[in-house]
Amino acid sequence: MAFKADKLTKTYDTAGLKVPVSLGVIMDGNGRWAKKRLLPRSAGHRAGAENLKELCRNCGNYGVKYLTVYAFSTENWSRPEKEVSQLMKLFVEFFDKYDPELAEEGIRVRFTGDIDSLPEDLRRVCREGEERSKDRPKMQLIVAFNYGGRREITYAAQRLAEQVRRGEIDPSDITEDSLSANMYLPDVPDPELIIRPSGEMRLSNFLLWESAYSELWVSDTLWPDFGYEELTQAFRDYAKRDRRFGGLSAKDSDEGDKQS
Ligand code: FPP
Repeated sequence: MAFKADKLTKTYDTAGLKVPVSLGVIMDGNGRWAKKRLLPRSAGHRAGAENLKELCRNCGNYGVKYLTVYAFSTENWSRPEKEVSQLMKLFVEFFDKYDPELAEEGIRVRFTGDIDSLPEDLRRVCREGEERSKDRPKMQLIVAFNYGGRREITYAAQRLAEQVRRGEIDPSDITEDSLSANMYLPDVPDPELIIRPSGEMRLSNFLLWESAYSELWVSDTLWPDFGYEELTQAFRDYAKRDRRFGGLSAKDSDEGDKQS
C-alpha cells in the first residue's frame, strides 16, 4: 500500500483507510471556537483559514483529487456587515499569503458558486487564482463561495430552459445527466464523502444535487481544531461504509447467496 511521509511528522499510510477521490468539507464552528477563547469571531475565521491550508496539504498527501470546501454561502450575506467584510478580506489574504504553498503542493484552485454576482475585485481574485493555478497536477481545491445548492440547481434549470427557448433541445431531452452537465463545475465528480465538523447534522444548502449519494461524517470538533487525526479517522470509517446507491450489496442479494 502506498506510504508517504511529509516533511514534518505526519504519515500518509492508506492501509485500512478509504481515501475518497472527491471529498466535501463544511467548515463550520469558527465563531464558537473564538467565543470559547474570548476572541472576536474574526479570529475564529482566521484560525479556520489556517486550518484550510493544513487540510489541503493533508488531503493532497492522502491522494484526494477534488476537495470542495464550503467557504461562504448565498445566505451568509445576512451576517453583520463587519463580519462579511472581514471574511472577504480574509479570502483575498488567504490566496495572497498561501498561494506559494499551494503551488508547492501542486494544488489547483477553482471556485464554485455565483461568482459572476460578486463585486469586481473579488471576481478578479477568483479568476486570477484559477488562471494562475490551472496547470497544478496534484489536487483541485474547489472553494464554494457565494454558493447555494438551490441556486446552483436553479442556474442549471435556467440554462436548460434557455436551450429549449432557442430550439436547441426539447423539454423531453432534460434528464438527470443534462442537469448535471449544466451545474457550475460539471467535470468535478460528486463527493463520495462529506465531512461536517462542529456537531451540526445538516447540509446547509451545500452541494444539494451532487450529494445525493454522499456518505456523511460528522464530528463535534470545531473547524479550526479539525486536524489530521480526525481526517484519518473519517477515512477509516469511510472504508467501512457500504455504498449501495439504492441497490443491494453483493452479500445481501440472492445472486450473492448463490455465488458464495
Ligand atoms: C461557518 O462557521 C463558517 C463560515 C461562514 C466561514 C468559513 C470560512 C473560513 C473557514 C475561512 C477560510 C476560507 C477561505 C476560503 C480562505 P461559523 O463562523 O458560522 O461558526 P459558528 O457556527 O460557530 O458561529
